[in-house]
Amino acid sequence: MKTITVNGGRPLFGSVFAQGSKNAALPIIFATLITRGVSEVRHLPDIGDVRCALDIIRELGARVTSYGSVAYIDTRSLSFCEPSAEKISKIRASTYLLGSMLSRFGRCRLSAFGGCAFSDRPIDMHIDACLAFGGRIVGNEIITDRLHPADISFKKASVGATINALILAAATDGVSTVRGHAREPHVHALIDFLRSAGAEIKISDELITVRGGELKGGNIAIIGDMIEAGSYLTAGLITGGRVSVIGADREDLSSYLALARELGCEVFERGSIISARATELCRRVSIVAEPYPAFATDLQPIIAPLLAVMSGGEICDRVWTGRYGYLKTLSSFGLSSRIEDGRAIIESSELQPACVVAEDLRGGMAALLCGLCAKGESRIENAEQILRGYENLVYKLRSLGADVSID
Ligand code: EPZ
Repeated sequence: MKTITVNGGRPLFGSVFAQGSKNAALPIIFATLITRGVSEVRHLPDIGDVRCALDIIRELGARVTSYGSVAYIDTRSLSFCEPSAEKISKIRASTYLLGSMLSRFGRCRLSAFGGCAFSDRPIDMHIDACLAFGGRIVGNEIITDRLHPADISFKKASVGATINALILAAATDGVSTVRGHAREPHVHALIDFLRSAGAEIKISDELITVRGGELKGGNIAIIGDMIEAGSYLTAGLITGGRVSVIGADREDLSSYLALARELGCEVFERGSIISARATELCRRVSIVAEPYPAFATDLQPIIAPLLAVMSGGEICDRVWTGRYGYLKTLSSFGLSSRIEDGRAIIESSELQPACVVAEDLRGGMAALLCGLCAKGESRIENAEQILRGYENLVYKLRSLGADVSID
């Protein structure tokens, strides 16, 4: 088990490049399984979840050759097997095997898919999508003799179910449609990859139309990671410094940047550079996390420590209604909060160092942010959880002036 030790209380200054987006890279890696060719994926982040996804597709016969952040994924000769249950239970993105394995092999096991366990994470909409394309459930598998085009209308916006529907639609001969889809930037990134592999896809606010069929290898540069970018900007703000992030899309981060301004911070945007710094102004805010383009649920645990060191505020997560478990961990740092009517009320608090265990990816990062702010030595155990989503974490933080190490 890895532990991050941080001697906090030092303002962070400087610039970091945004890594490739975790949540864009993962669906693209699994989508290569429906292509018959060699895909080139650039700006692939070197993080735990991506390494696990690549291991899973290797088990199915994909040949992955990496040169730095560029991977060539050869999926010309795959053969069916049950990927390791242990790997599948590590990452949520293994749910994308439902669409990709059903398309490529005509079967996929309904496994115990993993990922952060901050809430119930149902897969009913993923299964509905598989059934709509001609899958049927037999025992603990979904199988099909032949997929057919489908018209899908989701009851709510789900990133994962939208991704599975797009993978199935792109792999199926004919025209399919998807309504009620998620609009996150990573959904658009997958569409760009599928287009590069030969699928014809039109997208509007209401409808995605896909003409699928035989796909060749695709070619894509992964977009900048908006959650990582928001995490580093917050690290600058919470330590009273100023961090710039290069290479994240300003539009993807617009709800985060609007919130930083509402809090009283100064935000600078120029070209592909975003930076932010705190000012004397400090306002209490209310945040509602909802599907894109609203404030991202994955940034709400990240922003909570910042609210605490400023004037406090409240957070209502409408995507994952129970996603406040991380606050118990943050209470060890002196962060005072309570849950009321499904909202987290964060009180203005003075943070002190603590030794905690990272329970999940973003909750772990929130603890690290507390450690960076609190004067003295903090330790975050089970740091693998954070490394699932953050590339070169310690190196990047040190380059900003943090006194941090990992062992
Ligand atoms: C993705 O999870 C992300 N994971 C999550 O990021 C992120 O929190 C989430 O989207 C929301 O933005 C990956 O991309 C790998 P959803 P996903 O399906 O796809 C309900 C991180 O920290 N729902 O969009 O699993 C569900 O209960 C991770 O990087 C159903 O009801 O999320 C939730 O309320 C954590 N039935 C809502 O939809 C279903 O079949 C949105 O979930 C599926 C989902």
